[in-house]
Amino acid sequence: MEIIVRDNADQMSRSAATVVARVLNSKPNAVLGLATGSTPLGLYKELIRMHKDEGLDFSQVTTFNLDEYVGLTKKHPQSYHYFMHENLFKHINIPTQNIYIPSGTTDNYEAFCEWYEDQIERCGGIDLQILGIGSDGHIAFNEPTSSLGSRTRIKTLAKQTIDDNARFFDSAEEVPIYAITMGVGTILEARKLLLLANGRAKAAAVAAAVEGPVTSMITASALQLHHEAMAIVDREAASSLRMLEYYEWIQAKMPDAP
Ligand code: PGA
Repeated sequence: MEIIVRDNADQMSRSAATVVARVLNSKPNAVLGLATGSTPLGLYKELIRMHKDEGLDFSQVTTFNLDEYVGLTKKHPQSYHYFMHENLFKHINIPTQNIYIPSGTTDNYEAFCEWYEDQIERCGGIDLQILGIGSDGHIAFNEPTSSLGSRTRIKTLAKQTIDDNARFFDSAEEVPIYAITMGVGTILEARKLLLLANGRAKAAAVAAAVEGPVTSMITASALQLHHEAMAIVDREAASSLRMLEYYEWIQAKMPDAP
């Protein structure tokens, strides 16, 4: 995995936006996999800026979001539909029909999950998947012990995730218990993976994902199996990495690499 360490969250977001822009510049009709949560907010702000100031074009882009809470309508302020609309989609020129987000209110989850997987395939697969990481090491809502071959399905959230996400709700009791999420197997099929993490609270999860064994206990560790996975982390999130000096050495020596 390529590990890039930036001094702070702003720099992390700017580097991530550069990666996204590079993909869009080489393939204007790219399929992006998107994530929610606090981590990608700076990335989305930067993409909006690039759209407004530099003409970064989303008119042919298709997006697939990783997950959604079960039971929250699209208009619920904590739904990921609402999050994506407010924090990215309403500010860029992406056609509404090109936006895919799992439904938290379908009356047939099994059929919906199959349909979602089919749509990803029909669009040619995901070119670049953006990922955050939970403090329990999850990617999307693939909680510890999720199969590394899992597909889009319903998951029961871990207590840790409910507690982490309670900050967005009035109380922990209001956090939905179930979510619909792409599986680890679904995520691993994307052509490129980009994991972002900032802040000290993510340091242990980042170290386990990047340097620990590949294990369903830390589903982000599955990125080690992918041939084009990159992690861009800030200095705090990188603080428990044993090989930190080596990653920085690689970056410093990159321009001279044969
Ligand atoms: P966060 O969530 O970006 O809000 O920290 C990340 C995640 O749980 O995947």
